[in-house]
Amino acid sequence: MLTRPIPSTGEAMPVIGLGTWRAFDIGVGAAARRPLGEVLRLLLDSGGRMIDSSPMYGRAEAVTGDLLAETGARARAFLATKVWTAGRESGISQMQRSAELLQTEVIDLIQIHNLVDWRTHLATLRRMKEEGRGGYGYIGITHYTTGALPELARILNSEPGIDFVQLGYSLATRAAERELLPTASARGVAVIVNQPLERGTLFRHFRGCALPDWASECDCLSWAQLFLKYILAEPAVTCVIPATGNPDHMNDDLGAGFGRLPDPRQRQQIRQLWDAA
Ligand SMILES: NC(=O)c1ccc[n+]([C@@H]2O[C@H](COP(=O)([O-])OP(=O)(O)OC[C@H]3O[C@@H](n4cnc5c(N)ncnc54)[C@H](OP(=O)(O)O)[C@@H]3O)[C@@H](O)[C@H]2O)c1
Repeated sequence: MLTRPIPSTGEAMPVIGLGTWRAFDIGVGAAARRPLGEVLRLLLDSGGRMIDSSPMYGRAEAVTGDLLAETGARARAFLATKVWTAGRESGISQMQRSAELLQTEVIDLIQIHNLVDWRTHLATLRRMKEEGRGGYGYIGITHYTTGALPELARILNSEPGIDFVQLGYSLATRAAERELLPTASARGVAVIVNQPLERGTLFRHFRGCALPDWASECDCLSWAQLFLKYILAEPAVTCVIPATGNPDHMNDDLGAGFGRLPDPRQRQQIRQLWDAA
């Protein structure tokens, strides 16, 4: 799979990851969990690593932790979760709980979810990193709305020590191209793209439509691959985290991590296709 370096360390990150919102918020039933185990197996066997969760996603952290422990696959995954609460002590205990649920000693990336009480958590995470304790690797901040992009950019410009920014970006919602990607690139911050399929709604616009012939020029075999490769063609993007609980969809999404990416002319064609849809 294609990889991009995490700017703060140079560690290679495979470009296709997995979101767990909704898809992994399920109970303990073996039948419901089986496809999710398959989704994780496909991700990791294809060379993908990033799995994104949050205490906000109900049982998703626990389900992810159980499935990785059952298969002994923890070491192959890059676990990203979030802190989503106000207050220092509450943040620390929430992060400890996430580590328990994910059944890991080290959470590879902790992100401040939707910038909730971000000054407090950033101070906590920086102090823990400096003191070499806490069991966290990288530090990140997240949001998903276009309205939050200016604040994300302000924080990246003024606060050192942030390794990742996670933001909403898709063919339908392209403001990040102007409002955040140049800042992330200039500041050396890795970019995780959430809602890359616009929560699945991009597909509706092309239901029943054949892929254009020129899609094969950038090795796209499906609409999902065209949507994801459109994003991955931005050099500032480190990885995308489409969510799915469906192994066939995971396989489809993983295909976007291989082969040629759209060049600027092909990206323009993809935008025109969307704008005309
Ligand atoms: N503030 C934040 O930090 C924040 C906010 C939003 C999201 N996120 C993160 O970003 C992740 C992704 O965002 P998202 O879940 O909102 O939306 P998304 O990834 O844009 O879309 C997910 C939807 O697309 C469908 N899908 C995935 N692959 C497909 C394929 N190949 N063909 C057809 N349908 C496909 C899924 O359905 P199936 O399950 O049926 O495949 C699901 O309904 C989240 O899970 C979460 O981890 C973070």
